[in-house]
Amino acid sequence: MTRIGFAYNQKPAVSETSELEPSDSRRDDEEPPSTRRDLSSRNLLSSPSAPTPDGSLDHFAEWDAPETIDAVANALAPLGKVIRLEADDDFPAKLRAARPDIVFNIAEGLTGVNREGHVPAICEFFGIPYSGSDPFTLSLCLDKARTKETLAFHGVPIAPFAVATTVEDLRAIARGETRLLVPSARTPLFIKPVHEGSSKGITERNYITSAKALLETGSMLLETYRQPLLAETFLPGAEFTCGVLGNGWDAVVLPIVAINFGSLPDEAVPIYGFEAKWIWDRPENPLDIFECPARIPDALRAQIEDVVLRAYRVLGCRDWSRVDVRLDAAGVPNLVEVNPLPGILPDPADNSCLPKAARAAGLSYDELIQSCLVHAATRLGVEVVIPSEARDLLSDGHRDLNNRPLASLVVESSRAVG
Ligand SMILES: Nc1ncnc2c1ncn2[C@@H]1O[C@H](COP(=O)(O)OP(=O)(O)OP(=O)(O)O)[C@@H](O)[C@H]1O
Ligand SMILES: [Mg+2]
Repeated sequence: MTRIGFAYNQKPAVSETSELEPSDSRRDDEEPPSTRRDLSSRNLLSSPSAPTPDGSLDHFAEWDAPETIDAVANALAPLGKVIRLEADDDFPAKLRAARPDIVFNIAEGLTGVNREGHVPAICEFFGIPYSGSDPFTLSLCLDKARTKETLAFHGVPIAPFAVATTVEDLRAIARGETRLLVPSARTPLFIKPVHEGSSKGITERNYITSAKALLETGSMLLETYRQPLLAETFLPGAEFTCGVLGNGWDAVVLPIVAINFGSLPDEAVPIYGFEAKWIWDRPENPLDIFECPARIPDALRAQIEDVVLRAYRVLGCRDWSRVDVRLDAAGVPNLVEVNPLPGILPDPADNSCLPKAARAAGLSYDELIQSCLVHAATRLGVEVVIPSEARDLLSDGHRDLNNRPLASLVVESSRAVG
């Protein structure tokens, strides 16, 4: 039986958080708590599980709740013996002692801008195979500017951008000394910290229509987040987020999730930012913010899938990811950011985008998790023997949008190595 190490960071109980060291944590897969069952996230503005717009962040927000960890462990159980390896201080010693056949990694890490790469790097150090992207890709995608440089080199459409590390850099942008036009009502810019997620530091104020606003808001963000800012041309069109499963030319885009800006309050800036994720989306009054599958013309869907898969490949993403896309003024899909450690809240009421997209493709939560593991095992030549009851569960003929039998593809690929 395959021995599956399961690496994760579990959110501390509320009472524990004050005793733990803070970090420059970035939450790139946290989901809005409108209907979350995770009680620690309910009371969001007073809870340590929710980020706050002024930079006093929840340093553990990106870690997973016990419900998510249990759900993943249960999903993996039919494929082997699951060995829980919490990614704490003792993780290297525990991993070395357990030496599993493969590690299923959802650990977000804690410290530093390379934290998402720590568990995969430790696996590499011990020569133990692991699921998902490698440390380099995880660190690259945690830097939105470096990610965009790579995408630009490969011709993947992105909004023109400049990086501001100091207030003087902001002044240079305001004077028109970079590739960006001077911000105005006709040519707005969007600014955001390079290393954050879950819309930390991304509020309506980041929509910039004057040089004065650029200096004011930009200075505040530099001061608060103590990291460079990305200043980009504002992409005014429709927005989508896309789940991807698989590898290389066999990777598939799950049914696309459209962001419904019509659900935001009147006069709101059309962004899926802090207010939409954490203030307007309330358990008692959830925003109807997602449409999946997105009702868009086939030609646009093909264009979005093309951009998403090109980005996935050139960034070196593996097994799964979630990719944000927005249309520019000409209607061309531009890549906004890539999340190689996607959010995977198990309860459909939680509105987690990757599980939602998987469901629209006919994949249950368990099948999504199993697909990721089997894609990794197939890629690495690790044997995963699927017992007959799980095989029945997986092979009921679901097809993705390319009409490929997604679930049975999973079973076949694992048989190939089994
Ligand atoms: N250049 C841009 N033009 C228009 N809107 C933008 C741009 N960049 C970001 N946005 C808006 O801000 C939102 C948040 O940006 P982004 O996805 O980079 O942040 P994030 O906090 O990492 O998101 P996530 O919660 O997906 O991790 C986007 O979903 C989009 O609505
Ligand atoms: Mg995003």
